[in-house]
Amino acid sequence: MTIGTVLVVVPTYNERENLEIIADRLHAAVPQAHLLVVDDNSPDGTGKIADEMADREPWVHVLHREAKAGLGAAYVAGFGWAREQGYDVVVEMDADGSHAPEQLPRLLTALEDADLVLGSRYVPGGEVVNWPRSRELLSRGGNLYTRVLLGLPLQDATGGYRAYRRTVLDTLPLGQISSQGYCFQVDLAWQTWQRGHRVIEVPITFVERERGESKMSRKIVVEALWRVTLWGLRSGRSRRRAGRAG
Ligand code: GDD
Ligand code: MN
Repeated sequence: MTIGTVLVVVPTYNERENLEIIADRLHAAVPQAHLLVVDDNSPDGTGKIADEMADREPWVHVLHREAKAGLGAAYVAGFGWAREQGYDVVVEMDADGSHAPEQLPRLLTALEDADLVLGSRYVPGGEVVNWPRSRELLSRGGNLYTRVLLGLPLQDATGGYRAYRRTVLDTLPLGQISSQGYCFQVDLAWQTWQRGHRVIEVPITFVERERGESKMSRKIVVEALWRVTLWGLRSGRSRRRAGRAG
């Protein structure tokens, strides 16, 4: 691969039944990739399983955090570690098997001509397997709202399977990201795109988890809704100001 060293960051909260399976699949699919598990002190002992894996496998690393603080905060911590260690490529992947490691080579290949590659459920060839209709409507609706309000030309800005060049993360104000839940994904896609980086989407097949529970909640939806609305209003105002000035 011409894109350098790869770190896959996997946030975990109560993923005891999933973690080893996803790690094995990752190592089989992309043997040169390293894995960083970012565990929020999962009550089910996921962090201990991660430590045991890291003792056995030199390509596994673990970051322990004190308490559940949301997907966004876990990724910010993981990205900080990736930057310190100097990885060239940083990947986001869920622990529950929804993001197939077997499709990671597709994302990494696309990154050769891009700065951020989104694994997308909603471009031709992409799909969602085993989601209830209600969850798919929420996800498609959220993406439509994001496109309209932010003018962000992406089909799946809320998705969580993506690959960043480290140089992109170097330009983002990671310490100031306040998005806690899944709107972290929109936040980073939006900031990356606004800075003029090349963002492209490649199709993925998202398969709903078979083991453990989703951490999606009403709180996460509400946070996403108000933040995207706020960003949209602000950027609309700055567009109008720029229009008057110019
Ligand atoms: N460390 C940490 N802390 N990990 C977390 C937290 C947290 O507070 N909340 C969730 N996670 C981890 C889970 O353990 C899992 O590995 C991953 O984040 C995704 O969580 P899920 O609960 O499985 O998410 P989902 O399947 O409902 O949502 C997926 O789709 C969303 C909408 O497209 C994810 O891909 C999201 O990233 C995505 O925004
Ligand atoms: Mn999931």
